[in-house]
Amino acid sequence: MIRVNEHYLKLTSSYLFSEIARRVDAHQKAHPEEPVLKLGIGDVTCPLPPACVKAFRRAVEEMGEEASFRGYGPEQGYPFLRERIASADYRERGADIDPDEIFISDGAKCDNGNIQELFSQDVRVAIPDPVYPVYLDTNVMAGRTGACTDGRYEGIVYLESTRENNFIPELPEVPVDLVYLCFPNNPTGATIDRARLQQWVDWAAANRALILFDAAYEAFIGDESLPHSIYEVEGAKEVAVEFRSFSKTAGFTGTRCAFTVVPKDCKAWDAEGNPHSLHRLWHRRHTTKFNGVSYPVQRAAEAVYTAEGREQARALIEGYMKNARFIRKEMEALQLDCTGGENSPYIWIDGRMDSWKFFDMLLEKAGVVCTPGAGFGKCGEGYIRISAFNSSENVHRAMERIRKALT
Ligand code: MLT
Repeated sequence: MIRVNEHYLKLTSSYLFSEIARRVDAHQKAHPEEPVLKLGIGDVTCPLPPACVKAFRRAVEEMGEEASFRGYGPEQGYPFLRERIASADYRERGADIDPDEIFISDGAKCDNGNIQELFSQDVRVAIPDPVYPVYLDTNVMAGRTGACTDGRYEGIVYLESTRENNFIPELPEVPVDLVYLCFPNNPTGATIDRARLQQWVDWAAANRALILFDAAYEAFIGDESLPHSIYEVEGAKEVAVEFRSFSKTAGFTGTRCAFTVVPKDCKAWDAEGNPHSLHRLWHRRHTTKFNGVSYPVQRAAEAVYTAEGREQARALIEGYMKNARFIRKEMEALQLDCTGGENSPYIWIDGRMDSWKFFDMLLEKAGVVCTPGAGFGKCGEGYIRISAFNSSENVHRAMERIRKALT
């Protein structure tokens, strides 16, 4: 008899963004005359930077010629891309990361979800609340939790991020082995400064813990005093793995390219207390379960680092950030308390009511899609998240509709 992995049965029935898509679809069918404006899932709307398109096309042409055709590439990515990343994203910012500590993949979501399989079943996991659902759900699937009662899984240490702590969780008060951090944060848009990040790194070093640092939104940081990478902080190479993506940085959500940095100094221990290299384990996993990102996609990603690519990607981000600032201003004008939208494409808004109710109300009365905060955890209840990923015209239209609906 084929049996299911019963840990899956502990999960809520659908993934947050699938549930939102279902509700939006039903609304759209009932009101076909009024197209909804989508500021829900953080999906980019601007086309790829022209420099990427040019490199992408050229690489596809190469694949069509016998002399330049390529079959399987290195599973962990082509050296041309890993070298560019190591130099532009890390060394230029004073972080000493080697190209072979970088693993190219098809998405930070997959890497975030997959990495937990390197760790023992009984590690104690701390997860911020609210949080990007992938960190929690993948640990549930792996059987690291008990049942979910009243919005909380037994066995998980929840790090509450609230208005009171400026949405930056405090260090755990109980023993923890694995911590997920995301800055600029999804969903709250909060950022962390160097001093605070240093406290986390020092805590991890003192407790032989590991930080999984999701930096998918680092390109939206405008305040140059803020770190873009955890490796800008001393000691982080021994205690942190970092996830990055071209999705939001250069419009690759549909093209798929990301990377994970696993420094060679990073360790995890076996039951006898012997240290093991996480780099070696992740390399083993990656080469066993993944055959690499396609050559044209990696060439397109490489083009992000050319002078024209950097300028074009920057312009995309500036456009979204203009939207973000506008959304925050409009929401504050409605006397709603906001965070984010300054170094992040997300604005986290205290709706002062049940967040799914707020979501349904905006959909019904304004035809605008947001993301209900409760979908990110118990501490998200009462909040909604608005994403800046849309055209300026649509964002202006959406704000006007919301203003009319709420006043
Ligand atoms: C979000 O809206 O939270 C993100 O787009 C989800 C993702 O990046 O997978």
